[in-house]
Amino acid sequence: MSLQDRFEELHRRNEAADAAGGPERIERQHKAGKKTARERLEILLDKGSFAEVDRFVVHQNNDFGMDAQRIPGDGVVTGSGRVHGRPVFAFAQDFTVFGGSLSDAYARKICKIMDLAMKTGVPVIGLNDSGGARIQEGVVSLAGYADIFLRNTLASGVVPQISAVMGPCAGGAVYSPAITDFVFMVKHSSYMFVTGPDVIKAVTHEEVSFEELGGAATHGTTSGVAHFAAESEEECLALIRELMTFLPQNNLEDPPVRPTTDPADRVDEELQSIVPDQPNKPYDIKDIVQPVLDDRYFFEVHAGYAPNIVVGFGRLGGRPVGVVANQPAHLAGCLDISASLKAARFVRFCDCFNIPLVTYEDVPGFLPGTAQEFGGIIKHGAKLLYAYCEATVPKLTVITRKAYGGAYCVMSSKHIRGDVNFAFPTAEIAVMGPDGAVSILYKREMDAAKDPAKLKDEKTREYREKFANPYAAAERGYIDEVIEPRDTRRRLIQALDVLHTKRDSNPPRKHGNIPL
Ligand code: HXC
Repeated sequence: MSLQDRFEELHRRNEAADAAGGPERIERQHKAGKKTARERLEILLDKGSFAEVDRFVVHQNNDFGMDAQRIPGDGVVTGSGRVHGRPVFAFAQDFTVFGGSLSDAYARKICKIMDLAMKTGVPVIGLNDSGGARIQEGVVSLAGYADIFLRNTLASGVVPQISAVMGPCAGGAVYSPAITDFVFMVKHSSYMFVTGPDVIKAVTHEEVSFEELGGAATHGTTSGVAHFAAESEEECLALIRELMTFLPQNNLEDPPVRPTTDPADRVDEELQSIVPDQPNKPYDIKDIVQPVLDDRYFFEVHAGYAPNIVVGFGRLGGRPVGVVANQPAHLAGCLDISASLKAARFVRFCDCFNIPLVTYEDVPGFLPGTAQEFGGIIKHGAKLLYAYCEATVPKLTVITRKAYGGAYCVMSSKHIRGDVNFAFPTAEIAVMGPDGAVSILYKREMDAAKDPAKLKDEKTREYREKFANPYAAAERGYIDEVIEPRDTRRRLIQALDVLHTKRDSNPPRKHGNIPL
């Protein structure tokens, strides 16, 4: 073979890899509103940064006529690249090759980059678009999935793992994205479910469409499986790039600082009047969260799910922070099962990756009701408590209004290692709201009173004056300082500067036993 022939062979093989499933299947993919694996990686990664590996890997299966069908790459494109200049490993499942189905060779490609990601401390981004286990390979394919699940689990808390679901993702295949830190979906072109509409119809006689059962809207709101539901593939990939700007490369790094021109001592007069005078009047906590952050920019996570708690990222003085905030505009900011799960997972993510937590608290308590009790609010609420207790990152808390009962303890209180705890003058820190307290404390007196309403008013006023303020807590040091709302930004940045070098740890053990 001449030198010329050798180069030609390389070109021919490269072209075959680029051709993927062929022009017809690529056209079908485009007609379905979906991009190919390589097109997606091009958008996801910095221009020209992608370095592919295993382009020529093919499956080794000879059953069902598969020996006549070997396509270089075998249905998944893998390699490394950069996002905003920082390295990432990425894989993109290629639906045009055997429906993106997973073979032994394909799984080994994914495992190879995951192993490298863990050794090098570099995040992994997976773009999923697959018909599931390669049917022709049988149990070998299932083994490949298990190999990936194991790596997802071992990499958890070591490097950030991001999944985008951009097509089908069904059966056990859903468990790889589910273990990763953030799941992105695209509306109308992606779905995730453990069992599909046909099986459901046969077993439970329910009729449900793919989109209704496992589309982005469903998982972004009802199930909470997806953290982001994008309008298009472009938006999905742009959101992933944006998310990455807040994250460190691994658990041993601090998150990246982005210098800002927004003054650290910026005072915001509008904040003075966001919390209403009347204790039961709702307001939007985001009207406090946003203006306090650098450039008033808040990157919300899980926006469609459990809106009674708000979580997301922002920066303070250039440093990324994770924000958790009760939302009085929904369910009065009560903690329910969904809100507890949403916030607990977010708190744990931030703690894994050294992202300080800023908690805004306005919570009247846990949501009452049989649905909540039967659904296990006890164990689910305990997850949030556990997550805050075990977190060793800097923890800053601002009580804007209500901090009642168990929820007071849960929401990053001083007692569970809150580092700096502020309260607005509107804060009410008590075992319960004045109404409930008076009904219990003065039940007998009110039963006997000529004018129980008058007595109740009187006692409520008394209780409010004594307990519905931040000072009983401040007198005991449970609140470090009562601050004016307009100073929140300055005070948080000041506190973060001091806490930057915080070192704290938990007792040595194999791992804790979070109430799952
Ligand atoms: C091999 C597959 C495949 C699979 C699709 N293809 N799924 N090949 N194994 N699992 C091939 C098709 O034969 C077809 O090949 C091409 O991919 C595109 O598929 P279409 O059916 O034409 O596409 P579409 O109409 O868009 O339908 C997509 C689909 C459907 C809904 C995903 O293909 C489908 O139902 N596939 C089977 C899904 C499934 O049951 N998978 C196993 C689930 S169990 P040609 O050559 O015609 O282009 C599982 C368990 C994982 O995954 C467990 C982990 C623990």
